[in-house]
Amino acid sequence: MCNGMVACETRASLAHSLAATSLLLLLGMLPTGQASGCPRPSVVPHGRGNLTETNRGSFPVGTQLQYSCDPGYTLDGYSIITCTVSGHWSYDPPRCNKNDVCQPPSEPENGGYNCHPPPCHRLTQGTVIEYFCDEGYILKGGYQFRTCDNGEWKSPMQISCHPVQGEEQQSQLPMPALPIVASTASSVTFILLLVVLFVLLQPKLKSFHHTSSQTFILFS
Ligand SMILES: *[C@@H]1O[C@H](CO)[C@@H](O)[C@H](O)[C@H]1NC(C)=O
Repeated sequence: MCNGMVACETRASLAHSLAATSLLLLLGMLPTGQASGCPRPSVVPHGRGNLTETNRGSFPVGTQLQYSCDPGYTLDGYSIITCTVSGHWSYDPPRCNKNDVCQPPSEPENGGYNCHPPPCHRLTQGTVIEYFCDEGYILKGGYQFRTCDNGEWKSPMQISCHPVQGEEQQSQLPMPALPIVASTASSVTFILLLVVLFVLLQPKLKSFHHTSSQTFILFS
């Protein structure tokens, strides 16, 4: 089969090198196949990235993803990650941590708010803000306050200041108060009248009693 030892060895080494080359080629192809994209990054709880293709398994090199957190959460890490040539993301996706600091709420027109504890620059967990109105204005619905809880203000209702004049007629002297005042005044007058009448009539009643008993004596 082989024409001498030398020829035989050459053929064997040729086969060897062929196998080695193909193996190297195969090995070389494998990493290049992976480097064509980055795997889908892990989901960020309470946050979102601009991953347009939702069911996509891998992202091409150079893809940029931008992350943001839900209201009440703060981004920790890098908001933008890029798919590198090595098939890895430049950074791990960021994390969204629950906030305990509240955003300063907007001040009502013709009013404002005080913070407890003061000052108002850092609104931490449990901070209470108390609303007030400028002179000549009154808070709609009476006394208003809000508490910072887990980075959010409880009771998100609208707080507003109204001019006093319109409000005063309605709340300080409401319509049902007038009949009450009137009836109280009239009953006091009536009792006073009774007392006066009693005092005035007492001597007359006594004399009438007297005369009737006298008549009784006369007739008997
Ligand atoms: C995500 O947003 C970034 C920054 O706005 C942008 O550069 C990138 O192209 C966006 N990526 C996708 C997949 O939409």
